[in-house]
Amino acid sequence: MSLGVRVPEREAEKVRRELVAGGLLERGRRVLREGGFVLFPVKGAPLLPYETVQREFEATERKTFQDYLREFLGEDEVREVRRSFDVIGDLAILEIPDGLEGREVEIARALLRAHKAIRGVFKKGSEVRGEERVRALVHLAGEERGVAVHREHGCRYKMDIRKVYFSPRLGYERLRVLERVGRGETVVDLFAGVGPFSIPLAKYRGAKVYAVDINPVAVDYLRENVKLNKVEGLVIPLLGDCRVVTPRGVADRVIMNLPKRSLEFLDVALGALKGGGIIHLYAIAPREDLYTALEGEVRKAFQGLGKGMEVLERRVVRPYSPRQYHVVLDIKVTSRS
Ligand SMILES: C[S@@+](CC[C@H](N)C(=O)[O-])C[C@H]1O[C@@H](n2cnc3c(N)ncnc32)[C@H](O)[C@@H]1O
Repeated sequence: MSLGVRVPEREAEKVRRELVAGGLLERGRRVLREGGFVLFPVKGAPLLPYETVQREFEATERKTFQDYLREFLGEDEVREVRRSFDVIGDLAILEIPDGLEGREVEIARALLRAHKAIRGVFKKGSEVRGEERVRALVHLAGEERGVAVHREHGCRYKMDIRKVYFSPRLGYERLRVLERVGRGETVVDLFAGVGPFSIPLAKYRGAKVYAVDINPVAVDYLRENVKLNKVEGLVIPLLGDCRVVTPRGVADRVIMNLPKRSLEFLDVALGALKGGGIIHLYAIAPREDLYTALEGEVRKAFQGLGKGMEVLERRVVRPYSPRQYHVVLDIKVTSRS
């Protein structure tokens, strides 16, 4: 016998998502049905207003991605195929290890067989590049479409992954920024993409967010996502170069997630602030000096613009390359240098 939760059928999908998000769903066990109820096997008693029960949840013997790979690759090759891959909505983006390009379609099909929720598989066809920070993707298997709806922190983002930037690996960072924002703040998101920083601030903090992006396709999806998440009037999408379209003197806080070039736009960020305020500055820094040189550069630029600064938080967001990290500084801007 093991632990389960018993929920009415009409709420089953919502509860299943909550259990998955909380890491509480017991994988590899079959879900049961009793009358108008669905019983999910769980790892621990979740904090949900549903009845917990003890039942025999039969093992499903579901095969993993690795199990399917073993059908056509040797053990060494299976180890080389990374277990982790990006999932955006129901589309997956794989990295194919050098030497296994000839097997990439089979690898993609193995992923589709192992993960039924994934409907299309792509591989990275280039680095993220150009002003719009878009990566070329090569379709390998399943549905050949780039449009997907991704869920993160209770928000939905529609996008075409072949035409806009989006990384599910920034999910925790977006939550961290959300936790720093006070109710009713005004925020400028200088490089907003399809809205994953902007929309939660409006939805959960009632923030007014000016969300700027130069990529017209990203801004079209951003407009759609504003409606999808019911934050009309709070998130204001602005299409264009942030140097041209950013409103001045309005913000308590500015988000600058263009890590390779954010330093070029410090004057725009300062201009957007009411006076003092907070800037979340993202950058790419070498492993051997994550913050010192970066902070020195920002301080110098601020001095030139007649401002002072205090770093409130510094953290690594994620590895960027073997020798570089994507980092963030939360900077409090002061009026004197
Ligand atoms: C790294 S992406 C970040 C998108 C979004 N914040 C996210 O986390 O998904 C950077 C974005 O900045 C936009 N961008 C690049 N240069 C810009 C500029 N000068 N003005 C406004 N947006 C710009 C790109 O189109 C891209 O969508």
